[in-house]
Amino acid sequence: MKIIHVVGARPNFMKAAPVYQACAKQNIIQLLVHTGQHYDYNMSDIFFQQLGLPKPDFNLEVGSGSHAEQTALVMMRFEKIVLEQQPDWVMVYGDVNSTVAATLVCAKLLIPVAHVEAGLRSFDRRMPEEINRLVTDQIATLLFTPSIDGNENLLREGVAPEKIKCVGNVMIDTLIKFLPLTQKISLTNYPNEFALITLHRPSNVDDETTLEQIINSLKRISQQIPLIFPIHPRTRQRLTHKHISLADAPHLHLIDPLSYLEFLALEQKAKAIITDSGGIQEESTYLGVPCFTLRENTERPITVQVGSNTLIGFDYLRLEHELKAVLMGQTKTAEVPPLWDGQAAERIAEIMVNLA
Ligand code: UD1
Repeated sequence: MKIIHVVGARPNFMKAAPVYQACAKQNIIQLLVHTGQHYDYNMSDIFFQQLGLPKPDFNLEVGSGSHAEQTALVMMRFEKIVLEQQPDWVMVYGDVNSTVAATLVCAKLLIPVAHVEAGLRSFDRRMPEEINRLVTDQIATLLFTPSIDGNENLLREGVAPEKIKCVGNVMIDTLIKFLPLTQKISLTNYPNEFALITLHRPSNVDDETTLEQIINSLKRISQQIPLIFPIHPRTRQRLTHKHISLADAPHLHLIDPLSYLEFLALEQKAKAIITDSGGIQEESTYLGVPCFTLRENTERPITVQVGSNTLIGFDYLRLEHELKAVLMGQTKTAEVPPLWDGQAAERIAEIMVNLA
């Protein structure tokens, strides 16, 4: 069996790594295609190195652009590779533009696609990722869900039950594997106690008023606890462009994007995490670290229902209030969802090899 894995953006890399490694154990022939959606050293190469992913066999070098440009360039360049390589399966990850683009190519060429992290829904079509999820899941062949709510969403949308396999969370496979290595990461450059911030969703950073409100709230919070804010390139651009200054907030530490291991070490040690990322809602749930999500909805409701996540929406006063409570020791009890056990990728590889 020959599988092409397609990755493009930072959150894809930690999902593909365990699946690639589990498929290698099953002697599956594999090729890795990087679309080049993310291309900076600290958004891409460092993750390949730390996660033990091989150098991609192909890099499509699509770079940044509008959604249409990015999607179209991936399609045009990936189509050639699929035609040349004739894989038995193509495996796509998550919900980024590269995911939907590769899936569309395969659907037209009648090449079966397996979607890892299928079935998640925020029910908010203003989010570009929601469109990517809906389209990918409708046209993919095999749908690997991280939790049972994914199965329910897919069945509701009329997907045939035999296409859906609940395998667990591959991102947590990577976390479990690499957690022991974070012991070697020195955090002496950071304050002893801190909260960790990430922010990159267009709905939070592209609108000037919203971005300003969030930054003002973070400034107030930083008077209670130092904040470490590894900043996504999109967010840095917006702050610069909108002349939003952090000079008056000495405890709000803006730093460059971090490697996987360094970020994981910080996540583990943080008193709380404030984020709009999808994956970080899951990682904080596994780690039992209180997480406040600056979104009105989440495609990962299990992190709120059983995990340590709380949805804050645009209510920054609530954020400040809830964070204060956490700092005073009032934390929500949290559990790890079923099948987030480090074995999801093994289950995927076993299913794949049995299809051959
Ligand atoms: C993308 C994904 C999002 C995911 C996020 C993780 C889509 C629609 N969005 O959003 O789901 O949560 O990745 O990071 O696929 N840039 C750089 N260097 C890079 C990459 C990007 O400077 O290596 C800058 C560029 O100016 C680019 C901007 O960041 O225009 C946004 O990048 P893009 O890939 O369009 O989307 P993300 O916001 O990263």
